[in-house]
Amino acid sequence: SGHGEGSRGSLIVLEGLDRSGKTSQSSRLVSFLEGRGVPVETWHFPDRRTSIGGMISSYLANNAQLDDRAIHLLFSANRWEKRSLMEAKLKSGTSLIVDRYSYSGVAFSAAKGLAIEWCKAPEEGLIAPDMVVYLDILPERAAERGGYGNERYEQLEFQRKVSDNYHDLSDSTWKIIDACLPEEDIQTQLRSLALECITGCRSGKPLSTLWL
Ligand code: TYD
Repeated sequence: SGHGEGSRGSLIVLEGLDRSGKTSQSSRLVSFLEGRGVPVETWHFPDRRTSIGGMISSYLANNAQLDDRAIHLLFSANRWEKRSLMEAKLKSGTSLIVDRYSYSGVAFSAAKGLAIEWCKAPEEGLIAPDMVVYLDILPERAAERGGYGNERYEQLEFQRKVSDNYHDLSDSTWKIIDACLPEEDIQTQLRSLALECITGCRSGKPLSTLWL
């Protein structure tokens, strides 16, 4: 199968606590893949450029107050508004390296006390990642990294709960990388995982939807 239809791109998601290094690792990964001639884009959720993203951004900056469930649904809607573009890119052969996705959505909202199942429900039907890479760091170690900024969730107690939730959400398919390794070593592992995933998707693995 797959003959005559261009091969699809991979949806690769990076997850981790704030300050786990996802953002710099994902941009290095994208440069590497581009250098290899792989069609690829880097994406980030929340996507603050949309109007929903603007509401999320002012909530995170503590400039707006929102009910816990309302902000949860806005984060989810921010993924839904990108779903069709995401699908089109993947089908046209572009791989997407996505910094945060539905797992952040669930892990952060559940850290406020919302039930995991309630948090998962609005994510159902979004495109499932082909690979989730978790940059694993203890909340205490993340906090030492130049400290947290001033955004709402950047506090140690909260990040501890988020960390526990990530561990509950993870399954045997997640690729865990120790975020305290030297940056070069993390990048090396990430590159080989990504290449393997992209090759696997080219050979005809169909897209699927959350939750697997
Ligand atoms: P992000 O923009 O990745 O953080 P940074 O400002 O460090 O680049 O994400 C902002 C915060 O939003 C982060 O603490 C994680 C949280 N978040 C949610 O609570 N729900 C979500 O669905 C997502 C994608 C992020």
